[in-house]
Amino acid sequence: MIKIPLSNPYLSSLEKQLVLQVLNSSQLSQGPQLDRFENKMAQYIGSRHAVAVNSGTSALHLCIKSLGIGENDQVITTPFSFIASANCMLYERAKPVFVDINPNTYNIDADHISEKITARTKAILPVHVFGLPCDMVKIRAIAQKHHLYIIEDACEAIGADCLVDAVPQGQAIKLSSQKVGSIGDCGVFGFYPNKQITTGEGGMIVTNEEKIAMNCRSLRNQGRSENSMWLEHEQLGYNYRLSEVNCALGIAQLTKIHLLLAARARVARWYSERLSNVADIILPPHAVNCRRSWFVYVIRLRDHYGRKDRNKIMNSLKSYGIDCRDYFPPIHLQPFYAEMFSYRRGDFPNTEKVADRTIALPFFATMTEAQVHHVCKILYRIMRNYKYMRHDFMAVNNQIIAN
Ligand SMILES: Cc1ncc(COP(=O)(O)O)c(C=O)c1O
Repeated sequence: MIKIPLSNPYLSSLEKQLVLQVLNSSQLSQGPQLDRFENKMAQYIGSRHAVAVNSGTSALHLCIKSLGIGENDQVITTPFSFIASANCMLYERAKPVFVDINPNTYNIDADHISEKITARTKAILPVHVFGLPCDMVKIRAIAQKHHLYIIEDACEAIGADCLVDAVPQGQAIKLSSQKVGSIGDCGVFGFYPNKQITTGEGGMIVTNEEKIAMNCRSLRNQGRSENSMWLEHEQLGYNYRLSEVNCALGIAQLTKIHLLLAARARVARWYSERLSNVADIILPPHAVNCRRSWFVYVIRLRDHYGRKDRNKIMNSLKSYGIDCRDYFPPIHLQPFYAEMFSYRRGDFPNTEKVADRTIALPFFATMTEAQVHHVCKILYRIMRNYKYMRHDFMAVNNQIIAN
C-alpha cells in the first residue's frame, strides 16, 4: 500500500551544513544565529523587529503579556483555529471572546466584530486560517475606532500578503500590500514541522514597536533586561528561548522560502484541478484582494454530509495509507472551554458547520503530482461509493482496497 503522510518538512544540505556549523561552534544558545535569524525574518516580513521564541504558542503568550492584557480583559478572536490562539489569553486570566467565522473564508467575520466590543475589550486577535489573510482593512478600521490592539496570529500564513490601503495618486489609486504579521501591533509565526518553514519547534514575534520587542526579549529570557547580569531578573519571565540549532534551521529555510511557497502553491493547484468536478466537495476558499500562503489543503464536504459521514470518509482514507485530519474542531467545544464558559453546540453555527465537514489532505512542498493523483483517485472512489451506499460504507471500502 502507498503511504502518504499529512505533512513532511523539506530539509536540504543547507540545513545540515548550518546545523553542523553550530555544533562545531559549541555556542548552542543565544549566539550569532539568533541575531541572523531575527534580522532575516524582520527583513522578509517588513517589520522593524523580530523576536525568536521556542513556539508559536509562546509567541502569542508574550504578545498578550507585553501589551499588558490581563485579568478581566477581553480579546476578540475566532473559535475556528488551533487552540493556542485562545489559550494565550487564558494564561493571563483574560477572556477570549469569540466571533463566528465567515463560511466563505473560514476567517473571523469582520462584520460582526463590533457587536462584541465592550469596555473591557483590549485587542482583536485575527487568525489567518490555513494561510488565507483575514480582512485586515476592516479589522484595522474597527481597531482604530475603538482604540484596540491587533495581534495577528500568522502562524499558518508566513509569506501571505493583503491589500491594506488604497492610496490615491493623482487619477490613479495605488493599492499597497503588506505581509501578514506586519499589519497589526504585533504578529506571530510558528515553525512546527508541518508549517511552510520549520525550525523543529519555534516561533517568532514581529512588531514595529521597539517597546514591545524589548519587553518580549526580556520575557522570553526569564525577565532579564538587555543590561541585566545573568542572575538579575527585572520582571517575571519565562524560558521561551530558541536554541542556535533551531535558529540555523530557520535561516536555511528562510533562504529558500520563495521556492517552498511556490512548491506548495503548485501542489494546491494539482489538487484543485482534480477535485473541482467532484460534486460533493467544496474546494478551499479563493483569495480575494490578497495572496495566500498555502499551509494545508483543506476540502469541505457539502452540507448534506454530517460530522459522522466526514469521520467515516477520513477513516477510510487512512485505511488506504492516506493520512488526513479534521482541521479544526471548534475551540468553544473543546471540553474545558465548554465547561469554563458554558458553551454549547449551536453557539457559533458557521464554525460548527465548517468544522464538521472539513478534511485536511496530505500536503507538503515535496509532494509529487503522482501522489496528489493517488489521493484524489482514492478520495473520488470513496466519495462515489459513499454517496450511493452510505448504509454499507465500510463493506464497499473493502472492495475498493481489493481493486
Ligand atoms: C493558528 C495557530 N496558532 C498558534 C499555533 C501554535 O504554534 P506552536 O505549535 O508552534 O506552539 C499554531 C500551530 O499549529 C497555529 O496553527
